[in-house]
Amino acid sequence: VAPLRVGIAGLGTVGAEVVRLIEQQGRVLTERTGRSVQVVAVTARSKKKRAVDLSGIKWAKDPLALAADPEVDCFVELMGGAGDPALSAIDTALKAGKSVVTANKALIAKHGLKLAKAAEKHGGALNFEAAVGAAIPVIKTLREGLAGTGISRVYGILNGTCNYILTRMEQEGLSFDECLKDAQRLGYAEADPSFDIHGHDTAQKLAILASLAFGTQVAEKSIYVEGISSIAPEDLKAAAELGYRVKLLGVAMRTAKGIEQRVHPTMVPKSSSIAQVMGVTNAVTIDGEGIPPITLVGPGAGGAATASAVVADIADVARGIRAAPFGRPVDKLQATEKAPMERH
Ligand code: HSE
Repeated sequence: VAPLRVGIAGLGTVGAEVVRLIEQQGRVLTERTGRSVQVVAVTARSKKKRAVDLSGIKWAKDPLALAADPEVDCFVELMGGAGDPALSAIDTALKAGKSVVTANKALIAKHGLKLAKAAEKHGGALNFEAAVGAAIPVIKTLREGLAGTGISRVYGILNGTCNYILTRMEQEGLSFDECLKDAQRLGYAEADPSFDIHGHDTAQKLAILASLAFGTQVAEKSIYVEGISSIAPEDLKAAAELGYRVKLLGVAMRTAKGIEQRVHPTMVPKSSSIAQVMGVTNAVTIDGEGIPPITLVGPGAGGAATASAVVADIADVARGIRAAPFGRPVDKLQATEKAPMERH
């Protein structure tokens, strides 16, 4: 069997780790997929030295050239940003019949349907497991594991940076800004951390999960969003005295009036399982019809955790799996009827 030739655009924390992981796990990947997986080309904004060996790997001129390279079978987009160059590069790769793997939730939340349509039309896969919950296989769980189950609600802690900030503010009494700086230093935060702290990163992830859960079109705009930037250590202390902890939750649920989606800081009883989720950890609970809730917990941000999901997506491409990106053909996805917000 011919090897799967991978091209990677973006060599930040995640990209470099993906190169390293494919090298380190090469034999296991071949055993698991029946095919050898090789990084043949990369590109990034600068050619500065990386913590990973790139010898023998071609350097492409730019993301578009990499996406169009006939020697690349699988285009991996790890540049980020909701528009170009990521968007046109992915579009180019899909239209050339290649498979695409991306960790870019902003782009999938905004252009996912259009790109999924291109993937359907040209026969490539569009995989984005790393876009939500990093190493937690939550996309796969909703798309494949629960394909036969009706889902009434999906909710959880979807932003590692915010949970890390809230945890350290509560436990160590540190200021918001100090905690945010550490989250940035550790590689958890977005390039523009206002996406994290104002709740938009959570909203983008929630929009993707809701589409998969309910068979609706991704609709970030119909989400009520409130972030954590106005929360101070004193607020967390006051909540603790009452037996609560504050968590930034994303909640999407089916109601009689449509799909309700919201993101806001929520007081949760300290005894609840979601209150135990600390630091950069994410947790997603799925309420399926006729079965008790399923909760997935794990590392939600950071280079290694995100790279783990990217490599799993590449392995699916190597195996020849072509799952519909949102669980069903794009023209079968219903329009998202926005339910009026109700306080819970
Ligand atoms: N900035 C994101 C977070 C990265 O903190 O969760 C992972 O999507």
